[in-house]
Amino acid sequence: MKAHGNTHRSLSLTSMFSRSFLWGLAFLACAYFLFYRRLWQDSTDLSQGPPYIQAAVAKCLSLQQEPGPPPDFWKRSRSDRYEPGTRPVLLKGGRIWTGRKNGTEVIFGDVLMEKGIIKSVGNLGWLDLTTFGSDLQVIDAKGAWITPGLVDVHSHIGDFSLPVLEGSNDGNSLHGIVQPWLRSLDGLNTHDETYPLSLAGGVTASLVLPGSADAIGGQAFVIKLRETSEKSPSSMLVEPPYQINDTFPDPNLPFRWRHMKHACGENPSRTYQGTRMDTSWAFREAYAKARKIKQEQDKFCSSVLNSNWQLNDPHFPEELQWEALVDVLRGRVKVNTHCYEAVDLDDFVRLTNEFEFPVAAFHHASEAYLVPDVIKRAYGNTPYIALFATFARYKREAYRSSEFAPKVLAQNGITVLMKSDHPAALDSRHLIYEAQQAFFYGLPHNLAIASVTSNAAEALGLGHRLGYVREGWDADIVVWDSHPLALGATPTQVFVDGLPQLRAAIKVEKPANFQRLPKVPRFDKEAAEAVKYEGLPPLEPAKKLLGTVVFTNVKSVYRPGAYGVQGQTITEGNAELGVVVVQNGTIACSSLQDTCLTGSLLTDPDVTMVDLGGGSISPGFVSYGSPLGLEDITSEPSTNDGFVPDGLVQSVPQILGGDFLLVHAADGLQFGTRNALLAYRSGITSAITAPSHKAFVGGLGVSFSLGALNKLEKNAMIQEITGLHVSIGHFSRPSVSSQVAALRRLLLGPAIGAMGSYFEKVKHGSIPLIVEAHNSDIIATLLILKSEFEMRMRRSLRLTITGASEAHFLAKELADAGVGIILTPARPLPSTWEKRRILPGPPITRETTLSVLLKHGVTVGIGSERAYAARELPFDIAWAAIESGGQISKEEAFGIGSVNIERLLGVERDSAGMDLVATRGGDLLDFGAEVVAIISPEQELVGLLRDD
Ligand SMILES: *[C@@H]1O[C@H](CO)[C@@H](O)[C@H](O)[C@H]1NC(C)=O
Ligand SMILES: *[C@@H]1O[C@H](CO)[C@@H](O)[C@H](O)[C@H]1NC(C)=O
Ligand SMILES: *[C@@H]1O[C@H](CO)[C@@H](O)[C@H](O)[C@H]1NC(C)=O
Repeated sequence: MKAHGNTHRSLSLTSMFSRSFLWGLAFLACAYFLFYRRLWQDSTDLSQGPPYIQAAVAKCLSLQQEPGPPPDFWKRSRSDRYEPGTRPVLLKGGRIWTGRKNGTEVIFGDVLMEKGIIKSVGNLGWLDLTTFGSDLQVIDAKGAWITPGLVDVHSHIGDFSLPVLEGSNDGNSLHGIVQPWLRSLDGLNTHDETYPLSLAGGVTASLVLPGSADAIGGQAFVIKLRETSEKSPSSMLVEPPYQINDTFPDPNLPFRWRHMKHACGENPSRTYQGTRMDTSWAFREAYAKARKIKQEQDKFCSSVLNSNWQLNDPHFPEELQWEALVDVLRGRVKVNTHCYEAVDLDDFVRLTNEFEFPVAAFHHASEAYLVPDVIKRAYGNTPYIALFATFARYKREAYRSSEFAPKVLAQNGITVLMKSDHPAALDSRHLIYEAQQAFFYGLPHNLAIASVTSNAAEALGLGHRLGYVREGWDADIVVWDSHPLALGATPTQVFVDGLPQLRAAIKVEKPANFQRLPKVPRFDKEAAEAVKYEGLPPLEPAKKLLGTVVFTNVKSVYRPGAYGVQGQTITEGNAELGVVVVQNGTIACSSLQDTCLTGSLLTDPDVTMVDLGGGSISPGFVSYGSPLGLEDITSEPSTNDGFVPDGLVQSVPQILGGDFLLVHAADGLQFGTRNALLAYRSGITSAITAPSHKAFVGGLGVSFSLGALNKLEKNAMIQEITGLHVSIGHFSRPSVSSQVAALRRLLLGPAIGAMGSYFEKVKHGSIPLIVEAHNSDIIATLLILKSEFEMRMRRSLRLTITGASEAHFLAKELADAGVGIILTPARPLPSTWEKRRILPGPPITRETTLSVLLKHGVTVGIGSERAYAARELPFDIAWAAIESGGQISKEEAFGIGSVNIERLLGVERDSAGMDLVATRGGDLLDFGAEVVAIISPEQELVGLLRDD
């Protein structure tokens, strides 16, 4: 047809070369195989052999087949996933990231999609549209960025389906440490509520892996996330191996890639109360078994193919439980191995060389960047490394993770993939955010986009149809509202197999510069230090500057005040003229050079000058919501404060004061944790932390400095007791109504014990009551309880609600009751039933819970659920502001991250005492800005983060 015009072909001839060369090779191999079979059949008279011989010959010949698309794949005029009725689409005038030329090719042009595949890419002005009739849908992309659909190489979507229910845990089998016969497909729930959400984030395909409880967890499958007309798990598959229908596949069909999950290290050890030694043996025992079967097969085949038909047993030696592992040894399975530390990577690489099988990718691989040579020593090809950007320190294995790992690995010529591990670790809706952060911390932009598109597709053996915007590839396309690597980039339309997935895509207006690749800081030194210190580089400020510090080239200053954050634009035009003079940690002057640089300032040798390159000074952010300051490594009890006992769950020992114990988070604080210092370096200067608890009773919160290294340092403790925290929810607790009853009794009944005396302070309004609750019915009950209290006591109750995933339903009521909200996490996920009614935000809904609350005048802050994520608060808040399409001002956004949180959680300090943050190349909410110094009025100094 006409769409196969020459325009595109000639345009891409050179870059086609290497790929066509590879395909050429594959084709030759295939042709050779067919030729060999013909030759063999010609020279051997099958009719003289026993009848089973034909089958055996076919089987034996098929073992030599390399997986991959059949040679006629390139002639396909429609996709095997094509849904009848799919309208052809001409997407006009986009900025197309094609995936070619190592991810550097961007063409301004059009994309024609028909019958589930991309028919043509380039300038299609010559196209005769009448051949499509009225069926053709023409969409003007208006210059928008277009990328291939994102491919998530590590997902459990459907298998650990959301919301979590007792009946939906299908990700892990605990019936054996080695189970290559299990298949993730068999648990795939088509009603996981996150399919549409992840699609709205641009994720079109995912490798659904079994979990990592077992050393060999089973076979994995690639699915597309869209709903199919058949509505079955099978119909979601992309190029499934033929085994899914057959016990053993038809040897006459071309062979397709299979996928398998393996896991090293802590998880199998924990599941089976074993050790790394046990897991390694489990692998070796399994592979020895598979190797034995393979050797028998090879022996059998060598007899069959040499016309030696006098076999004792005429059956091809095969065992259903082990056939997939035998295929691993034949190099026909993409092995995806969860493996973190140097010890695990080394163990596994040894295993691959002992049994001679290749690994497609190491996942999580937190220490891969420290041992690139080990990775390269793996049997066959160098495995891909699939990483999280910043998710780390949740167990020993992840303690030495570095945000600079993608950069370091790329420098070593190792291909990096970014992945979600949805929903166990991250929300795959935000897979592009992983690529953005990898880019922010130094992964080149072309590789960052490729890490979730083309390279991800190649890792799955599906680079011939996924991961590129190319003629003949699947019509999986994302149209973005900004450059895909700009923070907050959101699809405005997502096509899967040519079918648009967003019904009424909501487009947020963004400033023009969001269409360009963002500028990011250079982290060469930090990346080198991460390697030098084996993942634990020193994080304390490089220098403490006493006396006078002059910040030059300052564009704006934001200062916390009694009524929020006030901004001052020093200079609209030439930022070089803006100056801020800081004396003993306090701003003495912020204005133009002429005004501030007076007297001896310019000549005084003791004055330090810091160039902010058009940057800014703003309030340090305040972290809330995680155990920050109470843990070093999440799942290591010996590094943590632990959980408080709860009188509602079990009786509390008398030595603790019995059931009315109330603990102080301040007593368990650990200073200088890596999460704290990393947050500090990212501009989050303090935290408010409640005691870690699993049920109703929390305890007394504390406000402390994230830069302090011990409790006795000046300003380490900001406020010993902030508010009184409890949680009300549905998880493994006594009933919700019992929890509410307990709270009612504490508010309205007699004061008993320590809890009673602090509830007296709540009753008198000297500290706030902070209740974690997500469900709107629970939030409504709390509002009723509040008014009950106020009617009875004739006093108002200071109440703040945190979590609050469903708070948008009660925005007006919350505003009327004067109840503030700390949204935790910033971006909602329907992970449990009690928070499933989220307001997802663009591109699904225009409003978010945050925007609805702000519109009603509710005071709002944003929290982080996990301590590692505290550092991301500036991104979280900037993203929320971007998503609001200009509805949230800079001042308001800075307030959401600082003074609002303090006010809502009971910090009563003079805002003049808050730390300030100096950023280079923008303000703290600009994606490309870099935090260079912390200005501390309490410590009367400036901490310089870098020494250069
Ligand atoms: C791909 O791009 C990266 C980063 O820009 C570069 O280091 C690498 O050499 C490139 N690879 C090829 C094959 O051009
Ligand atoms: C499985 O069987 C069904 C029904 O015969 C068929 O439509 C489908 O294409 C088969 N799938 C594979 C991967 O062989
Ligand atoms: C700064 O602190 C030093 C040492 O305490 C003191 O001598 C000096 O007067 C202070 N300067 C200002 C401007 O407060």
